[in-house]
Amino acid sequence: MAKIALLGHGVVGTGVVNVLKNKAAQLEKLTGEQLELKYILVRHDYDVDYKEKFVTDFTTIETDEEIDIVVEAIGGTDPAYKYVKAALEQGKHVVTSNKELVAKHGCELMNIAKEKNVNLMFEGAVGGAIPVIHGVRNCLEANTVNSVAGILNGTTNYILTKMIEEKQSFDVALKRAQELGYAEADPSADVDGIDTCRKICILADIIFGNHILPENVHTEGIRNVRIEDVDTLKTVGGCIKLLGVAKRAADGKLFIMTAPHVVFNQGILFAATDVFNAAQLETDNAGTMAFYGRGAGSLPTASAVVNDIVECVKADGTIYPVWDDEKPEAVADYKSVPLQFYVATADGAEKVKETFGDVRIIAEGTETAFITEKMTQVRLETALDGLAVKSVLRVL
Ligand code: HSE
Repeated sequence: MAKIALLGHGVVGTGVVNVLKNKAAQLEKLTGEQLELKYILVRHDYDVDYKEKFVTDFTTIETDEEIDIVVEAIGGTDPAYKYVKAALEQGKHVVTSNKELVAKHGCELMNIAKEKNVNLMFEGAVGGAIPVIHGVRNCLEANTVNSVAGILNGTTNYILTKMIEEKQSFDVALKRAQELGYAEADPSADVDGIDTCRKICILADIIFGNHILPENVHTEGIRNVRIEDVDTLKTVGGCIKLLGVAKRAADGKLFIMTAPHVVFNQGILFAATDVFNAAQLETDNAGTMAFYGRGAGSLPTASAVVNDIVECVKADGTIYPVWDDEKPEAVADYKSVPLQFYVATADGAEKVKETFGDVRIIAEGTETAFITEKMTQVRLETALDGLAVKSVLRVL
């Protein structure tokens, strides 16, 4: 019998309790043993029929030699970091969906796990239910992954979809996302791109092999997305998505950023709406590859967490490779990497052409909207000096 301790009883924690209970027979068949949820670490009481599992002191879990797997579903880094580190040091596997924790301390924690011969699993931390981490870690070993671009935050994708398709206000859509259990405790982590940034950092850590701290990544959220640009882009088959992107720049450095991007209507990043997440990878041998599914919510996240539990039980002894420590100098200056841009300006098309030459104009009227050739942001900013710019977005 494998014994599990769960830390936290919020959206993800209750989902894990439900999935472990509802799928008990299936999980036993798959692993060859019963999975017993022995403890749930809580801060206060809840009216449920499994109260006997509640404990309020982490020491009970840390010192119980029967506990094989600790599932961290508290969120944030304090006290999650302390508890996860202690559990690993006690030789217990840890499963977490905590992107903040992994983005910040993943390298150190993976090294402890390796030293103690246990696993640190975190599929639920990126893309909710989608097995993107397993895909990248386990299924692409015969490839070099050259780039990844992803819709990695369900809340913002839900908000953008409701604003675009149903003309809901930002506030109404955000409130509904919170009611549905998609949003972070502090939703500015969603709408300001911080959550997406953490997730693209984790994917980049795994793909490119060096820890990237979120504070070294340029990050923009969706607060300034204008409905005028949404409408203009619709006329040419485009839409706006909050993306995390990471790829090797020409100088070998890593170009990584989180920002709203214009996406045109080929492929999964255009098609993923509502709470769905998607990640698209460019690889050398397998070509283009995509992962798609529910990126947030209690049961979708619990699905990934419980899968990780099963993997710890089944693959006892399998230790995942760790990535190397942070090298801030390995991250490229985002303004120096050539990209295409969408620009809307109050100036007329003539003035735009005088400045940019024969660009692709996609709207004329009270505003002119156009798509530039590939250029660095440094060059773009110089060119835009003197124009009455309304918005600038990167084009994927
Ligand atoms: N707030 C996050 C989201 C939860 O909306 O994607 C899942 O990480």
